[in-house]
Amino acid sequence: MEFERPNGMQGPMVYSTFQIKSKHSDEVEEFLIQDLTENYFDEAVNIIVENHAKCAVFHQAAKTLLSESGIRRVNEMYLNVFKEKISLVCLKMDTMEIVAVNALTYRDSEATNDANLNLIRDTVAFLNNEFNVMDHYGVHRVISAAGLCVVEKYRNRGIATKMLQARVPLLKCIGIKVTTTIFSTPGAQKAARAAGYEENYSISYDDLGKNFNKMDFSKFSNGFCKVMSLKV
Ligand SMILES: CC(C)(COP(=O)(O)OP(=O)(O)OC[C@H]1O[C@@H](n2cnc3c(N)ncnc32)[C@H](O)[C@@H]1OP(=O)(O)O)[C@@H](O)C(=O)NCCC(=O)NCCS
Repeated sequence: MEFERPNGMQGPMVYSTFQIKSKHSDEVEEFLIQDLTENYFDEAVNIIVENHAKCAVFHQAAKTLLSESGIRRVNEMYLNVFKEKISLVCLKMDTMEIVAVNALTYRDSEATNDANLNLIRDTVAFLNNEFNVMDHYGVHRVISAAGLCVVEKYRNRGIATKMLQARVPLLKCIGIKVTTTIFSTPGAQKAARAAGYEENYSISYDDLGKNFNKMDFSKFSNGFCKVMSLKV
């Protein structure tokens, strides 16, 4: 059965507003975090592919974006996630431009006809099996993530941390108690810690690569992949 928001919570909802001093002047810039609405889907797909997927550990290791058909399937995958209508977007208030996107899903990813995307799916299934988040927290349903990015010129100003914190009001709004994410980079892991997520499971890319020899983690051999979750 498709997930439905409770009555009256169909959105779009604004979950957070905040101000940050500009990097270049004393001016204060204002931002909001809200449901990612349909009018932003195409732009958000471009932004998450450019700013997340192209540099993401799993997409690089599985070589998802090396062919035209691979790029098209990754674009489609994000569009399908956005259609679940639980993803978040951060907008700069004066221009309403997209500053950050967090693709969120309540589904397990399905097998596709793209072998590289299936490699990611299998790796995620392995991690979910190593740490069973639903058993651990005693819940039947969780929200997980398919990608997080902050547009480059807005990085290192706490925006990823605010995006991850905004899942708290989102979860309360849709009546789900737990969110979990495989955080693949040190920056995202640090932002998750700052946002109150607890670390459930950690594995080095060297060890992960031993289980998935078709994934090429050689560029990330000193790194760790972490499952981190938050319960409201
Ligand atoms: C990772 C990312 C989302 C962080 O966004 P951000 O808005 O710059 O993060 P924040 O400003 O909230 O940073 C939170 C903390 O992480 C640190 N941090 C941010 N980027 C970092 C990086 N690349 N390496 C190490 N630490 C980093 C910040 O210094 C901050 O620490 P502090 O509180 O001690 O100052 C952003 O760099 C990004 O979009 N990267 C490309 C895509 C990606 O890696 N996505 C995550 C995949 S799981």
